[in-house]
Parts: sequence; C-alpha cells; structure tokens
Amino acid sequence: MRHLLDTKTLTRDAAIRILDVAEDMADTQRREVKKLPTLRGKTVVNLFFEDSTRTRISFEAAAKRLSADVINFAAKGSSVSKGESLQDTAQTLQALGADAVVMRHGGSGAPRTLATSGWITAGVVNAGDGTHEHPTQALLDAFTMRKRRFGDASRGRDLAGLRVVIVGDVLHSRVARSNVWLLHTLGAEVTLVAPPTLIPQDVTAWPVRVTFDLDEAIAAAPDAVMMLRIQLERMNAAYFPTEREYARRWGLDAARLGALPADSMVLHPGPMNRGLEISADAADSPRATVLEQVTNGVSVRMAVLYLLLAGETTGDDPARAGGGER
Ligand code: NCD
Repeated sequence: MRHLLDTKTLTRDAAIRILDVAEDMADTQRREVKKLPTLRGKTVVNLFFEDSTRTRISFEAAAKRLSADVINFAAKGSSVSKGESLQDTAQTLQALGADAVVMRHGGSGAPRTLATSGWITAGVVNAGDGTHEHPTQALLDAFTMRKRRFGDASRGRDLAGLRVVIVGDVLHSRVARSNVWLLHTLGAEVTLVAPPTLIPQDVTAWPVRVTFDLDEAIAAAPDAVMMLRIQLERMNAAYFPTEREYARRWGLDAARLGALPADSMVLHPGPMNRGLEISADAADSPRATVLEQVTNGVSVRMAVLYLLLAGETTGDDPARAGGGER
C-alpha cells in the first residue's frame, strides 16, 4: 500500500487485510511491553492543519508503538500561518526525511494533492480532509463492529448482512462518507437518518437508504447505530430549529436506547456532544463502543503505518517484522 487517501477506492481484500493486520497489532497491545521494533529508523510526520486531539494522539501512539520517530507539525503557529505554501511545507518534510505523512486538512482533497504532487516520496495517510473522507476512522469503526460481532473469530471476515444506521450531521461528516463506502464494500446495509437539511444532495448516488425518522430506523432492529457529532463549527446557517428540537427528534436518548435490540451496538467517533446527538445514558451504556473505538483506533493506525512503511519488505507477521531485538 502506497497511500491511504479514502475508503471509496479501497477494495474488499485491501480493507480486510488492514483489519486483519490490526487484529495482530491488537494482540501485541495486550502484552506488558507494547512497543515493537518494526518501524525503527522510520520517520512519521503528523501534519495537522485542523484542530484534533484524539486522531493526532492516536496516530502518535500508533507510530511510537512501532518505534518510529514522530514529528508533530501543527500548522497553527508554524510558518504555514506566515503564508508558506503546501509545496514549501511538503518540500521541507521531504528534506527532513519523512517516510510517512499523516495529514489533516480543512480542504477536501488536500491529502491527494500532496500524495500526487511529486513534492514528496513519503506515503500519505488522510487523517480527515474537509467534508471528504476520514478513512482510518471508518476502518476502526469496521474493526470495532467486526470484533463485537465475531470476537476472536474476526480474521478474514467482512460485515455481510450487518445492518448499520448512521444518524445525524451527514452533510458535514467525512466520517459518514468514509463509513458509507467501506461498509458497502464489506457487505453491510447502511441506512442514513437525519433532518432533510443535513442530508447531502448527492446522496442519491450513494449505496444507502435514507429516512428522516429515527424511531422508524430503530424499530427495524439494526445491529449498529452510529451517532455523528453535530458539527456546529461547520454550520454557517440554521440547519435545524433548536438544539432541543434536534435532540428530541434525532438524538439517541434512553427511550430509543431501550427500543434497540439488547445486542446492538452504539458507536460515536468522538468528540461527543452529550445531551445533543447522544444522551449520557446511551454514551455510557454497555452497548456503547466509544472507548473500544479509541483503543481499536491505535491498532488500526498501527496496521496502516505498518502496511505503508514495512508491508512489502518484512513478510507476514507484523509482531515479528524487523524483530530479533525485542
Ligand atoms: C471526527 C472528525 O474530525 O472528522 N472526529 C475525529 O476524528 N476524532 C468526527 C467529528 O469531528 O465529529
């Protein structure tokens, strides 16, 4: 794998390969010593033009557990804010010897621009670009659903027949888009639920069913419900009357939680607006996978960095790759 820019063009085999390597990584993370020598001598740059806490520290933890050197480049406070172009930034990273660049950017398509520019030889991982995609989030969500469903028998499996409901601010959500493509590729059936104002126009071309009625979607007894954060910072207009009204019609509250089958899962990518799209009862219930998603995120990002930086040269067992000195 050269870059990871989206899930739309990821094949089923490539996706399952990432999820399976992530299973191997997760196994190593249950050991007392979590650090593997696999990426020793490699340099991973976190290039973040947009605020992020959990995604950045998740990539940082993943790179460090594989013994890579990590450089955090926050574009705020850097020469980017003095007007340096992406080309100059990229060429600087190249001169620093970056082997992989993990990029978050407000512009949809920025990671692809970097990857195809010829300015760098590093592999590029999209860590969220505008409203376009956030592929590692979708992969960690798929990993989490597969793990809940199949446990230790997860390897090699897809999500055929799994019924997933994605609820909320689909319009502004790169998480929703990456999930729609990946879940479809893995054989799941996706239903989107949102107010009509938060459903994108081009949804007719997506492999999904759309409804505006959350109670109807819940009555169909889905296997998983994924609540999206209402992205107030991306809203420059009134997309719904009031937050109270939004919570009443599209929020996952105690009553709706109770109406779900006992074994259905509740996902949220974080950060959560408690009381808006998700109530405390739902967020803290045993059905919620929020903290598993965070833990699994490190394993999935370890897998992606491994496949980008060591996959072709070190054979099949990432826990052993580059080893001998453990
Ligand atoms: C998501 C993002 O940034 O797209 N969050 C994340 O990766 N931690 C979702 C969100 O911000 O709502």
